[in-house]
Amino acid sequence: MIYDPTDPAIIADPYPQLLALQAEEPAHFSPKLKAWVLTRYDDVKRALGAPEMSVDRIQPFYRALPQETQSKVAEIVKYLSLWLVFRDPPEHTRLRRLMAKAFTMKAVVDLRPGVEELVDGLMEDAAGDSDYIATFAMRLPGLVIMDLLGVPREKMDEVKGWSDEMQLFIGSAQNTPNKYERASAGAKAMAGLFRELIEDRRKAPTSDLISAFIAAREADDQMSEEELIAACMLVLFGGHETTTNLLSTGLMKFLNDPAARERLAADPALAASATEECLRLDGPSGSMARLVAEDHDLHGKTLKAGDRVFAMINAANQDPSAFDRPGEFDMTRERNKHLTFGYGPHFCIGAALARLEGEVALQKLCARFPDMSVTGPLVWHETMIMRGLRSMPVSLR
Ligand code: HEM
Repeated sequence: MIYDPTDPAIIADPYPQLLALQAEEPAHFSPKLKAWVLTRYDDVKRALGAPEMSVDRIQPFYRALPQETQSKVAEIVKYLSLWLVFRDPPEHTRLRRLMAKAFTMKAVVDLRPGVEELVDGLMEDAAGDSDYIATFAMRLPGLVIMDLLGVPREKMDEVKGWSDEMQLFIGSAQNTPNKYERASAGAKAMAGLFRELIEDRRKAPTSDLISAFIAAREADDQMSEEELIAACMLVLFGGHETTTNLLSTGLMKFLNDPAARERLAADPALAASATEECLRLDGPSGSMARLVAEDHDLHGKTLKAGDRVFAMINAANQDPSAFDRPGEFDMTRERNKHLTFGYGPHFCIGAALARLEGEVALQKLCARFPDMSVTGPLVWHETMIMRGLRSMPVSLR
């Protein structure tokens, strides 16, 4: 079997192939990806959290580039190297502790009324015929994360533009001209904005996350200026497209199932378990990348230090050894131990916020629009890392 995630049929529906791999070849080496593809629940869970795997893939990639390319990407690599999602212990442990001091559960709970108000307003913009991604799914997480950080809302389009440029490096843009220069310029511009905001908040702290990051202390330690900028960029990135994808793949379940829609509309108490099921079944996480840190054997194969690995979260979330009726959408499912937010030391720091947005938005959309349907072709993101729609024409009535 050859796993080719660039095949349009596999992008539209990756599951038949992923589940066949899970059954027949759980540690598969894909020549196309030059990487191992793991699809079983226990293997994916272990790969996400175990010390024989490393998350530090930025530095090895950078070191392997020719010198002239290195200088083109230096500006973006400087910040990505400070993202805790790409750091192993002990640097990860230190940064995570500092960030967690600021990113508290209370900060998220306090956001609920603001999220509800935003959802109500955006639903009115999206009512009728529109591309739901542009009118709703992209905008809600963008506005929420900017409010949380303390970035003025009018900066939305500018910030989105810089993020898109940075994606040219972080994502898998194959043939875009000048992609490295553009990604670095995007990083520089975004860093400039956060540098200014940090300076303002040092003089006059507010209740936003930037101020909380500045104030975060662990013993005598605190984040440096560059670490603060990197943390703000990571939160902006981590919290935006992932949640957009939850709102798109999540709404698909209800667009296709009027009975589920009616049930969620009538019973807001189901919002939490319905959102967990949207996260699990064809949810927003496709896979997470790792590098093998120590040689080890898996299902009769040897994974060697330096090999690349893709832990296929969406496949693990449908492993029959971990879930009853794994292919069925059951919004009352209990003990839903999906791996969509990762597992272990890198478990998503924004999970509570993503859950809040999913719960409020999906329940309100079902209640406000009893009559909703897909009206045009669905365009999926062409990446195996994230699962979500780029375009989703709908009628919401
Ligand atoms: C549905 C939405 C989301 C999904 C599916 C998601 C998924 C994930 C996953 C799978 C990881 C683990 C990465 C790894 O193991 O390599 C992660 C980490 C992270 N997420 Fe999320 N995330 C979401 C929303 C958010 C939000 C809203 C924020 C911020 C407000 C956020 C911030 C982060 C950060 C900072 C990390 C790095 C944690 C670490 O390395 O210790 N995420 N996320």
